[in-house]
Amino acid sequence: MAIREILIHPDDRLREVAKPVVFPLSDDVKQIIKDMAETMYDAPGVGLAAPQIDVSLQIAVTDTLWRSDEVRHDPDKSGADRDLKVWLNPEFLWKSDESATWEEGCLSVPETYADVTRPAAVRLRWFDMDGGQHEKDFTDFLAVALQHEFDHLLGKLFIDYLSPLKRNMITKKMKKLFKG
Ligand code: NI
Repeated sequence: MAIREILIHPDDRLREVAKPVVFPLSDDVKQIIKDMAETMYDAPGVGLAAPQIDVSLQIAVTDTLWRSDEVRHDPDKSGADRDLKVWLNPEFLWKSDESATWEEGCLSVPETYADVTRPAAVRLRWFDMDGGQHEKDFTDFLAVALQHEFDHLLGKLFIDYLSPLKRNMITKKMKKLFKG
């Protein structure tokens, strides 16, 4: 296992549309998924999409339990209280008209948080690591987190939902802080 380098905005590789994974998964892809989980926990973050580590495949990992400060800051709890989810080739089948606003951040846009308004509920179809197909409705934080992660697979970032002025300010800040 290895912690991978996370690409920081602005980076053209974050803007590519990712390709579907092919089943059965190759050992390479299985390793990428393990590395993504390790990289997400190390960051720490609640989600990571493959394009963020320069892999243009439709893979995302999340752990929304990890969001709780109690779990995140207690090393003894690592493992037991984790809820790692792997999402392959995800596709939204439906999004609600009703919207919700949450403060979002992103490992590829460090130290930056902003309110983003998205559909409050979604119906998702995705595949697991064995190639099994799943369909489920999500609401609240997970609905938002999944939309954020799967945007990455389409080359989109949460800052794309902000005003051009705000987005330019953030891009300048990223260049100054991380591309110096
Ligand atoms: Ni992100």
